[in-house]
Amino acid sequence: MIHATLHQLKVFETTARHGSFTRAAEELMITQPTVSSQIKQLTTAIGLPLFEQIGKRLYLTDAGQELLTTSQDIFGRLDNFEMTVADLKGKKQGKLRITAITTAKYFVPRLLGSFCQLHPDIDISLQVTNHHDMQQRMHDNLDDLYILSQPPEGIDLHTAPFLENPLVVVANVDHPLAQRRKIPIKALNGEQFIMREQGSGTRQAVQKLFAKYRISVPVRLELGSNEAIKQAIAGNLGISVLSYHSLTAEGGMPELTVLNVAHFPIQRQWYVANLATKQLSVIAETFRDYLVEESRPFQTRLNDSLLAIAS
Ligand code: PGA
Repeated sequence: MIHATLHQLKVFETTARHGSFTRAAEELMITQPTVSSQIKQLTTAIGLPLFEQIGKRLYLTDAGQELLTTSQDIFGRLDNFEMTVADLKGKKQGKLRITAITTAKYFVPRLLGSFCQLHPDIDISLQVTNHHDMQQRMHDNLDDLYILSQPPEGIDLHTAPFLENPLVVVANVDHPLAQRRKIPIKALNGEQFIMREQGSGTRQAVQKLFAKYRISVPVRLELGSNEAIKQAIAGNLGISVLSYHSLTAEGGMPELTVLNVAHFPIQRQWYVANLATKQLSVIAETFRDYLVEESRPFQTRLNDSLLAIAS
């Protein structure tokens, strides 16, 4: 039986997260020698080194990596327990960590707003990333819920679909194709294109469709943000494919229009997901159900807008 206190595990987990004794000491508001001595005692109790130091940074050994997973599991369960106790006392209180893909940021914060009004004692953190970076966060077990449109292979997830996330072709209103209806996909051949960065799910979906119909477009610009792409289209740098939701923000941009191109929109869905191996807290469950329920009216509005584009 290894003798380790919860305090030592907390010190270890914080040090592992920062890769630094100094930063762990700052976060925990204790001195650096205290951090070092706690880690030393833990190392002795376990009988194997937990960190390797290369330059100024600490790296986890295999034993350290295992201990990190175990510590995160213990603290996650304790957090869940606290939230369950609060729930039994009739209160929703605790933490909710969400990571959403770039397009969901046009939708999720608004729902979070109304959710927080219902449950003001919940602390929420929302990270926005592309699909590739989200996958890394899943591997590191950093969040309670993930909002995405392409569940990755090889990670066991529980997923619930909640709203369509169609990808449409977007051009400047002055673009020659903007005046045409029922544009064949071949007409996109040779168009100057603005592409999302490597690791983006949008980029993957576009490349797959273009490969299927043998569409070849010169990439004029590669950008890591949907907002920057909208500005580049407005600046006449080319056309692009974006989630329809990114166009409705702040009433839309008058310089942009959606082209009526065959085989578009690319049909996708947003899902709210959690790691199958992780027990969901009451708060995460409550938010997941809220998201699924409250997004229903948005689906009806979205259907109407898409019909208008297709006509
Ligand atoms: P991405 O995902 O940010 O990885 O491109 C966006 C989406 O699928 O809507």
